[in-house]
Amino acid sequence: MIPRHGGNRYQASLRAGCAPEEILDFSASINPFGPPIDVGELLRREPELLTDYPDPEAWELRNALAKHHGVDPDWILPGNGAAELLTWMARDFNRQGGAVTLVDPAFADYERALDSFEVPILRQPMTIPEFDLPALPGGIGLILNNPHNPSGRLFVRKQLESVLEDYDLVLVDEAFLDFVPGQETGETESFIPLVAQYPNLVVLRSLTKFYSLAGIRLGYAIAHPDRLARWQAWRDPWAVNALAQRLGTLVLAQDDFRLKTLAWLQEERAFLSTAIENIEGLTPFPSTVNFLLVHSNSSIHSIKEKLLKRDHILIRHCGSFELLGDAYFRISIRTRAHNHQLIDALKAHVS
Ligand SMILES: Cc1ncc(COP(=O)(O)O)c(C=O)c1O
Repeated sequence: MIPRHGGNRYQASLRAGCAPEEILDFSASINPFGPPIDVGELLRREPELLTDYPDPEAWELRNALAKHHGVDPDWILPGNGAAELLTWMARDFNRQGGAVTLVDPAFADYERALDSFEVPILRQPMTIPEFDLPALPGGIGLILNNPHNPSGRLFVRKQLESVLEDYDLVLVDEAFLDFVPGQETGETESFIPLVAQYPNLVVLRSLTKFYSLAGIRLGYAIAHPDRLARWQAWRDPWAVNALAQRLGTLVLAQDDFRLKTLAWLQEERAFLSTAIENIEGLTPFPSTVNFLLVHSNSSIHSIKEKLLKRDHILIRHCGSFELLGDAYFRISIRTRAHNHQLIDALKAHVS
C-alpha cells in the first residue's frame, strides 16, 4: 500500500532493512536546518515544561503569534499540528450541513477529517500537468491550499477572494506559506488580513515544516473568536503540550533563521531542480516552496523501491493522490550533500 503521508522513517526502515536513523528522508518537507532552538538546553533550564500541565489556553504562544501576524490573540488558536485543527474544522463543516469542495490533488488529511464527521466531499480536479485551479462555482464548503501541496504552486489571493462570497464556509490552508519569501510575494497572498471581515473564513498555518517541529506538533488557526472558542470547548484541554507552546513562542523570534532559510531555499531549489531536469525522463514542476513535484516517464514504484532498498533514501510516491498515479513523486529540498546523494541515486535508477 502507498502511504498517504510522507515522513514515516520507522516504517521505511523496516522495508529497507536498516535502522530508522539511516533513512535519508526526502518524503516529508521539513527544513533541514532546524529547529533553531537548543531543546536540550531549554529543558535543563525549564524542566517544568516536562513536569507541569500546559496552559490549556496557550496564552503566551497566542500573544506571540498575535504580534507576529498583527491580529488580536483571541483570533488565534494553536493546535497539536495543523492536522488537529482540521478535525474541528470538519466538525464545523458538518454543522454547516452540505458537501465540501476539495481541489484535487489534495492533502490526504482533509479527507480523514471530513470522513470523521461524515461530511460529503466534492472533488474538483486541477488541470494536469499545469496544476491550474478548476472553476469554483460556489456552494456550502471549500478547502483551498496555498501554496499547494503537492505541486508547490502559489496562487494569487486576488484571483481567489470571490470564494469568500460564493461559499458558506472556507478553509485556506497556508501550511507552507512561510517558505515563500518577502512581503511582496509570500504574506501578500495570505488570507489572514481578510479574516476580520469574513466570519466564514478560517486560515490554517503550521510551524512544523519551517521550524522542523514535526515531531513536537504545532500549528494554529486564525478565525473569528466565537468559532475558536467553540473548538477549544470541544477538544482535550491540553491538546498543545507545554514544550510545543514554549518552542512556538521562541521560534517566532528567530529572524536570522528565517532569513537564512529563505536565502538557502532559493539557491538550493534551483540547484536541485536543474540537476533533476538533467536526468532523462524526469521533469520537475516549478515550485515556490521547499519541495519539488517530479514527473517521471518510467514507473515511480520501481524507482522508489530501488532508492529505499539500495540507498536508504525515502521519497514520496504520489500514487495516493488519485489524479497523479504512478507518474509523479515529491521530494523535499535538503542540504547540498543530501541532495547530491539523491541525484546520484536517481541517475543510477532512472532509465
Ligand atoms: C498542506 C498541508 N497542510 C497541513 C499539514 C499538517 O501540518 P502539521 O504538521 O502542522 O499538522 C500538512 C502536512 O504535511 C500539509 O502538507
